[in-house]
Amino acid sequence: TACGGGGGGSASAADGTITMGFSQVGAESGWRTANTKSVQESAKAAGIQLKFSDAQQKQENQIKAIRSFIQQKVDVIAFSPVVESGWDTVLKEAKNAKIPVILTDRAVDSKDTSLYKTFLGSDFVEEGRKAGNWLVEQYKDAKDPVNIVELQGTTGSAPANDRKAGFAEVIGKDAKFKVIASQSGDFTRAKGKEVMEAFLKAHPDIDVLYAHNDDMGLGAIEAIEGAGKKPGVDIKIITVDAVRDGMQALADGKINFIVECSPLLGGQLMDLAKKVVKGESVPARVVTEETTFTQEQAKQALPTRQY
Ligand code: AHR
Repeated sequence: TACGGGGGGSASAADGTITMGFSQVGAESGWRTANTKSVQESAKAAGIQLKFSDAQQKQENQIKAIRSFIQQKVDVIAFSPVVESGWDTVLKEAKNAKIPVILTDRAVDSKDTSLYKTFLGSDFVEEGRKAGNWLVEQYKDAKDPVNIVELQGTTGSAPANDRKAGFAEVIGKDAKFKVIASQSGDFTRAKGKEVMEAFLKAHPDIDVLYAHNDDMGLGAIEAIEGAGKKPGVDIKIITVDAVRDGMQALADGKINFIVECSPLLGGQLMDLAKKVVKGESVPARVVTEETTFTQEQAKQALPTRQY
């Protein structure tokens, strides 16, 4: 039916079935694939009808998808914003249509926090700090400069901004840590490899690679091996996510440390959606619980890793 449901502008089915419009970033990484699966399976389990849209890493596609969800009068919109800025107009349109919005995984920088009901996802600054703390501990007795290259995530995205900031905050306390190159690899394996190849050509003296996700780190490993160096030994590698392929490389000694970022947000997202559709209050921020993995811990965790 196309008639407006009570209270909001929604077209809730007569049987009370909730329809959620979900705009996903894309399919850029193993993390994203696991996140999509989690959202789709959890919607099914919760009896929520999901309208899923893949933005292929483009903000304009997400804005189009959100506008289409508004037109279709879904009950709730959830999305993982590819970048932080530029959402106010479309979020105001959703608010005017009385459709609640839930941010999942990534934040927006809108000053008006009434434009969304809650934000479910990781603390990306803390993830960056965890990466930095491990490095500081590893090199605590070193006197010489430690030359670091950084593969950043998608330019302007919350995880790229925050993982860079958290890491810089920690290593910035000791001048021996030097970030000699830092560039975006767009969270993909192919870009990670390409940028690492350029880093290796320009800098013969790289000690450490900090990659904002496993996929870029895995691409970089190919570049390092291609340059005749041993990943994990000649160049120490820290990544973020802890997806299966990353954990395998960690267990194999090619990565040295992984900061976990959990993609399994679907269950919590569906619970929050049910509450906001009913008009119940929800916490403004729900932070995902996460850990870190050393090579030994990866070996233990791998057999039961879900993704
Ligand atoms: O927003 C989460 C990040 O997006 C993941 O760490 C990365 O792998 C993904 O592409």
